[in-house]
Order: sequence, then structure tokens, then C-alpha cells
Amino acid sequence: MTSKTTSLIELPADLDCTQLPQHVAAIMDGNGRWAKQRGFPRMMGHKRGADALRDLLRCCKDWGIGALTVYAFSTENWGRSMEEVDFLMTLFENLFQLELAEMVAEEVKLEVVGDLANLPPSLYDAIDRAKTATQDNQGVRFTVAINYGGRQEIVRACQAIATQVQQGLIKAIEIDEHLLSKHLHTADLPDPDLLIRTSGEMRISNFLLWQLAYAEIYVTDTLWPDFDRRAFHKALLNYQQRHRRFGKA
Ligand code: FPP
Repeated sequence: MTSKTTSLIELPADLDCTQLPQHVAAIMDGNGRWAKQRGFPRMMGHKRGADALRDLLRCCKDWGIGALTVYAFSTENWGRSMEEVDFLMTLFENLFQLELAEMVAEEVKLEVVGDLANLPPSLYDAIDRAKTATQDNQGVRFTVAINYGGRQEIVRACQAIATQVQQGLIKAIEIDEHLLSKHLHTADLPDPDLLIRTSGEMRISNFLLWQLAYAEIYVTDTLWPDFDRRAFHKALLNYQQRHRRFGKA
């Protein structure tokens, strides 16, 4: 995770270290537009997007943010050209292979969520190896959503719970929010405090539908490959100005 950013290594002084989000989620949007604006092929945007992600992960470590979850590939993204899908799958595989030693050294604990069974076998294996190699790490919890859909995740959780009811293991009346949460891919992660979406779209696009219930949402026009520490700093300043009410007055 070689960082191109030489400034803002430490938490900026105008941020309150006791009021940082413990879990940040990001919808990394705008890679294609970033490339188009520069006359580059779309793939270049994804490549630079991967660079931005590497630095954000390191930044979370540097600034004391415990968990980062990113939307890398939605269940709808299979509709893109075969060339782009193949490129993205290879990019993900490279992340899990080439960055593994660095993730281990940095104590990153990797999780990959989504329907992984339909991924290319070499990517599936790379994910498996990287998860195993980082499972005892105590640093930043880094979760990558690939072939992920929030509705699908909730449906699967319901199916699993319904099966338990059918088998007489639990009663329907015992189903509560806690039980459902425990059947999601993110079962042992706290819910995100902050969702960042780049490139200006005001949607959550089927990402972490359950988990984002009380998250603060920050949308920026910055395109993902340009989302650097300065942009993250701005997002965190904005977050710290919010009054989180969790539905209370
Ligand atoms: C959205 O931009 C981005 C994606 C669908 C892929 C996200 C992938 C990365 C940031 C690459 C790095 C990730 C990993 C895990 C290595 P878009 O293509 O929809 O952009 P557009 O809306 O401008 O066309």
C-alpha cells in the first residue's frame, strides 16, 4: 500500500479524535467519469480508484478509524462489458494477492462479503487465502463487498432464520433485530457511522441496506480516484458537525 500522499499522515488537529466514526463505509463511484474527463480508457479510472482505496485504508490506520467497508462490485455490475468485468475481477485478485504481505504487516483484518460462489475460481481462492492469512489481525477491519446486494443479503438471512424456525430451533416470536443482524455478512462488525459516496449521486444503490439505518450520509462531487486524504478530512469534519440523534429528539 505505497502511499502517494505525503501530507496528512497524522490525524488533522481540527478533528476530534474522540468523535471519529469507528466504521466508515464507502460507495466508490466515478472511476469511469474520472477516466473519461482525461481521455483515458475506463480501466484507467478503476486502476486509479484502487490506488485511492489503498491510501484510504492506510489513512484509516493512521487516523485511528477501526473499520472500512467498500462497495467494489454490485450484483448489477455483471451487466457491464465483459472486458470491464474481467478487468475488475483481475484488479480485485491483484489486491488480495499483491497487497497481502502489506495487509499482514499492517495488521489489517480482511473480510469479503457478497455472493462469492459465482466469482472466478482464482479470485475466490485469492480471497480465501487473504482472509485466512489476516484473520487474527487486530488492526483495521477492511471489508470489501463483491457481487454484493443488500436486499439479497437480507433475503438470505430471512431464509436461514426461517429454516431454524422450521426445524424448531427457535420460535418466530424470538426473531428480533439482533438475531437478523447476526445472520448478515457483517455479523461481527458494528454498523457504519458514516457512509461516503463519491461523484455526487444521492443513492445508496442496494449497499448495506440494513446496516446503514442510522449512518450519517456524506455525498461529495469528488470522483473516487481523486478521493484523497484531503477529501476524507473534509468528510470527517462534516461528520463531526452533525448531531447524531438515532431517531431521538
Ligand atoms: C464505480 O465507478 C466503481 C466500480 C464499479 C468499481 C469499484 C472498484 C474500484 C474502486 C477499484 C478498486 C477496488 C478494489 C477492491 C481493488 P464507475 O465505473 O461506476 O464510474 P462512473 O459512474 O463514472 O462510470
